Formats: sequence, C-alpha cells, structure tokens
Amino acid sequence: MTGIYFSGTGNTKHCIEKFIAAVSSNKNQLSGHPAQLISIEESDCAVEALKASQNMVVFAYPIYYSNLPKIVRDFIVENKDVWNGKKIFIICTMGLFSGDGAGVSARLFRQYNADIIGGVHVIMPDCICDVKLLKFSPDKNRKIIEKADAKLETAARKLINGKPPQNGLSFFARLAGLFGQRLWFYNTTRHYSDKLKIRNTSCIRCGKCVGVCPMHNLTLSNGKVITAGKCTMCYRCINQCPQKAITLIGKKRTTPPAE
Ligand SMILES: Cc1cc2nc3c(=O)[nH]c(=O)nc-3n(C[C@H](O)[C@H](O)[C@H](O)COP(=O)(O)O)c2cc1C
Ligand code: SF4
Ligand code: SF4
Repeated sequence: MTGIYFSGTGNTKHCIEKFIAAVSSNKNQLSGHPAQLISIEESDCAVEALKASQNMVVFAYPIYYSNLPKIVRDFIVENKDVWNGKKIFIICTMGLFSGDGAGVSARLFRQYNADIIGGVHVIMPDCICDVKLLKFSPDKNRKIIEKADAKLETAARKLINGKPPQNGLSFFARLAGLFGQRLWFYNTTRHYSDKLKIRNTSCIRCGKCVGVCPMHNLTLSNGKVITAGKCTMCYRCINQCPQKAITLIGKKRTTPPAE
C-alpha cells in the first residue's frame, strides 16, 4: 500500500498514519506488502513511489472551502500519467463539512483513468487559527480526535472486508459541496493566495515561517519576511509563528499553536 498525502498542520498526516496502521495490523491481502507513506512536499519521491506501486494507493488531504488545496490539485494534474489504472482510496479531513470532499479529487483521478474504490471524511480540529469559529477547548479537541480515530478504524475494517466506505462520492454529496460552499468560494481555491499578512512590528525575524512553508513562499530579506504570492493557505506558518505575527483570513491569531 502506498500512502500519499498533504497536511498543512498535521491533521491529515495523523489520519493517514492511523488508517494505514489499522489496515496493516490486520492479517489481510492489503497488509501483505510493506506500506510506505510520503508527503507530496517530497514531490519526486512521491511520484517515484506511485510509478513503482502495484498496490492500492491511499490519498489524503485537507478540505479547503469544499475543494482541493491548490498544492494538491497541482500535484494530481502535473502528474496525470501516474494515476492510470491505480486503485485509490481517499481520506479527507475537515473541520465540519465538505459535502463531496472525496468527490472533488475522485472526479479528477477518474479523468486520468484511476479506479476510485472508496473514500472517508474525517472531522478533525479546525486549523484556521485566526478566526474564532469552530475553536474548541483542548478537551473537546481530544474527543474530536478520538472520534476520528474510531472512524478511521472502522473505515479500515470495511476496506479489508471488501466494503470500503463511500463518503463524499455520491451525486447528492456533490450537490451539497457545490451549493454548500464551492459555488460561493470557488475563486478562493482556484489560485495561490497573495493575501498573507505579516505584522513587521511583532516579527522577530526568527525564520521559522520561512523554513516550514511547503510552497517556499516566504523569504527573509533586508530584515523583513517577504511573501511571493504563492500561498496554498495551509496555515502552517500562521500556527507556528512564535509571535503570532502572521494572519490570512482573519486579523488576529486567536488560539495557541496546534498541538
Ligand atoms: C483555507 C481553509 C479552508 C478550509 N475550509 C474548510 C471547509 O470548507 N470545511 C471544513 O469542514 N473545514 C475546512 N477547513 C478546515 C480543515 O480542512 C481542517 O482543519 C483540516 O483537518 C486541516 O488539515 P491539516 O492539519 O492536515 O492541514 C479549512 C481550512 C483552511 C486552512
Ligand atoms: S515565524 Fe513569525 S516571528 Fe518568525 S520570522 Fe516568521 S513572521 Fe517573523
Ligand atoms: S505562506 Fe504559510 S499558509 Fe501559505 S503556504 Fe506557506 S506555510 Fe502555508
């Protein structure tokens, strides 16, 4: 089994690790091959692994406005040849609702002749740390993660038993995703964002944000952090800035960094 994922702030990485561990710990056809897990940030390695893979691919990503993060869409489209004939199971993480989170990549994969065998939607703590909506206590977040882990265990068991879940893949899910969000927010995820704000009066030039950005969007130049306008809105730098100096959708980072 080959696991390929993108995770801005760690939720999706947690989920794909749990899922692959659950499948691998059962004695079954899928666990017979050693599993490998690679982020699309290591793009060359991920593509090589996909080319070599003869087995099922588990593909995981977070949902942004009921759509794919731009970095994920680009990875799928730029490597369109590797999906031909692949059996793909999709994991989507989200803060509350996506409608057809798994469906958005499934439709793209099918264009490139992949076979979508199922999908699971997993609610995880919301990562948008500069907006108060959906922010919960650490205790509540722990409960959300426990529920997510249980859902992933069940999904793994169903997959092993030949009845993988089909979250987000129906026509009704597509309508929910479209009318629930995509229609109104489509332009937000269509391009990389140039909306990242860095408060220079708070920034201590530690360089943390520069090092963690998956898009290499940030540089320290003349004692200032400069953005190149190619942010995929992953919220990693915003969560990790020790000075809470970075924002994107909101105006102020409201919560401590994600655990
Ligand atoms: C720009 C952006 C848009 C988001 N849109 C949605 C959404 O439409 N629905 C939802 O339930 N969660 C939404 N979320 C929350 C994330 O999908 C969720 O927290 C996810 O688990 C983050 O995964 P990660 O930690 O792997 O990056 C959004 C997050 C971001 C950063
Ligand atoms: S992580 Fe924050 S404090 Fe450090 S350089 Fe970036 S913006 Fe400045
Ligand atoms: S600039 Fe920040 S939010 Fe944007 S892609 Fe880079 S790490 Fe993610």
